[in-house]
Amino acid sequence: MRKAEYFSKDFEWEDLRAQVENDPSFSYHLLPFEPTSFSLNSVATDQSRSSAADGSHAWNSFHHRHSSGKFFKERRYLLEEFPELVNWKGNSKVLEVGCGNGSTVLPILRGNENIVVYACDCSTEALDRVKETIDASNIAAVEHHFHPFCCDFSVTTFPTWLACNPCRENFTQTSQQRLTDGRGESETDPNYTYALKESKCCVGGVDFVTLIFTLSALPLKRMPESIKECFSVLKPGGLLFFRDYGLYDMTMLRFEEDKRVQFREYMRSDGTRSYFFCLDTVRDLFVGAGFKQLELEYCCVKSVNRRKGKSMQRVWVHGKFQKPV
Ligand SMILES: C[S@@+](CC[C@H](N)C(=O)[O-])C[C@H]1O[C@@H](n2cnc3c(N)ncnc32)[C@H](O)[C@@H]1O
Repeated sequence: MRKAEYFSKDFEWEDLRAQVENDPSFSYHLLPFEPTSFSLNSVATDQSRSSAADGSHAWNSFHHRHSSGKFFKERRYLLEEFPELVNWKGNSKVLEVGCGNGSTVLPILRGNENIVVYACDCSTEALDRVKETIDASNIAAVEHHFHPFCCDFSVTTFPTWLACNPCRENFTQTSQQRLTDGRGESETDPNYTYALKESKCCVGGVDFVTLIFTLSALPLKRMPESIKECFSVLKPGGLLFFRDYGLYDMTMLRFEEDKRVQFREYMRSDGTRSYFFCLDTVRDLFVGAGFKQLELEYCCVKSVNRRKGKSMQRVWVHGKFQKPV
């Protein structure tokens, strides 16, 4: 795939929006959510189907069905979009949330031999897949650089070995002190590293969090707390990299009416969910959790399915957010 494909704006999001909002065949996507009798019968209600156990179970089945490895696609564009993952001076730590089969983990490990990747997923099947992917990659001394673990971050906190409570509090107090005594490092320095000495109580938090096509799998109502959890394990000055489905992406428009479970939230037949983000929602969620917005935009890419001869309009949201120093 061409690198430039991910940076180019093949079309304007506002043009797509006008097209979708004026097309009567898409009108049900725009309506305030009201479960119809049809959707009540064919898709279980949000309340009954959205328990965390259901979500993890659905993702577990998904990864079981896609265990052949064919589903795996390395996200080669990732380091172009988020160059800090390779340019950061010195050793760094990243938490990849919802790692799946390792599409995001692998390019990071390949691109930066000084990085340590902590990767979680709510699905144990996914964790088996990611271990297979990384084992097959022949990256030197990978056992020191890659630590997978099971966690559903929509209902539980990240483990305390990643960032214990005193360290999490210390991040906040230290950043407040820096603000009041005026001796803090420049917020604009991209290579700012948190000076707190790592203690043995935990790994001391992370420099980066990656949320790549994972947040959309959560019910909207669980997103604010889940993002706060990501915020709490980041060191001050640390960065969160976000990429996910954008409003009016082709995959949203393909969902039939009975797959709607909330406004802009859909559930596939296999029980996995997908939310489609507009920029305002992303901004509100991340700024609301305490982040500073550095980058936020739609990526609008036309891709052609050569076999079917169809052109597809893909919309993703790209975001970069920083925990204030
Ligand atoms: C679309 S995949 C994205 C995988 C990976 N981030 C990538 O770049 O390809 C979404 C992943 O999030 C995981 N997931 C969904 N809900 C989760 C949750 N609440 N906590 C942790 N992982 C979750 C799923 O099991 C799945 O592996």
